[in-house]
Amino acid sequence: MITVIGSINMDLVIHTERIPRPGETVLGNDFRQIPGGKGANQASAAAKLGANVKMIGCVGDDAFASTLINSLNTYGVNTDHVSIVPDIASGVAVITVEQSGNNSIVIAPGANYCVTDEKLKEAEDTIRNSDVIMLQLEIPVETVKSAVLMAKAAGKKVILNPAPAAKLDGEILKNVDILTPNETELEVLSGHSTDTIEDIRAAGQIMLNKGVKELIVTLGSRGCLYMNNQMSKKFDAYKVKAVDTTAAGDAFNGALAVYLSEGKTIDEAIDFAMKVGAMSVTRHGAQPSLPLLSEVLDFENWLKTQSL
Ligand code: RIB
Repeated sequence: MITVIGSINMDLVIHTERIPRPGETVLGNDFRQIPGGKGANQASAAAKLGANVKMIGCVGDDAFASTLINSLNTYGVNTDHVSIVPDIASGVAVITVEQSGNNSIVIAPGANYCVTDEKLKEAEDTIRNSDVIMLQLEIPVETVKSAVLMAKAAGKKVILNPAPAAKLDGEILKNVDILTPNETELEVLSGHSTDTIEDIRAAGQIMLNKGVKELIVTLGSRGCLYMNNQMSKKFDAYKVKAVDTTAAGDAFNGALAVYLSEGKTIDEAIDFAMKVGAMSVTRHGAQPSLPLLSEVLDFENWLKTQSL
């Protein structure tokens, strides 16, 4: 079983030709509300791939709450530990997606900041019964720390996707099994530039020196870099036509957790995660863009339809 402890947001999405510069107004296309949030997306990604997934999180007592919970349930995520908190808004993300598929995101965390140690205590049995615990940084970092320590004390595998970027305390880093930053997040975490692949390796080594056991740096269309203290390996990305990169990292993390919870090797898990990430960027939105297991199993045929 995979337990995701993290955020649940309603994404307010507008597509534009390009993301506006500071002070600029641009005309966009249609506006859509799409269930998102890094935690909920990763939980949905894993559940859509057939895993048994539980979500620990909070929504507000507003009109978004039922849509957000229903979306998780539709994809097969257990929401027994998702609370509706009175007098607070659900998490919201305002997202602009430009024609290249790149996006910019601003988040109002709302109820996500009600995911506290108390919530972890209520769900302690679920954490103890999990194989993999997956976390991100859209809930209070103190809760992330408590969850990492609780999960490690119970001998669980912990995956931390350090997004959005933040500096992290050494205790968190020493107790995480796999850290999955993108290059921007790695730069913030390590304090080292990540402009070239050599820079990324050096920044990654800083994280390994801080006690991280395994690191996967996601590099968008350039693939990803796996590092541990013995070796490093670069994986190329599958070439696809990106229309919206929202939740690509979440697709990757969810898929990684699924294969690792099934006892697959790290190479197999990364290849699977790259396929799931590649499929997600060819579709719009966060949770609706995440592929089903049956679609990923037909990946080679699907890839032929992506001739660039
Ligand atoms: O990773 C994509 C997600 O980031 C969006 O769904 C948005 O809610 C933000 O959390």
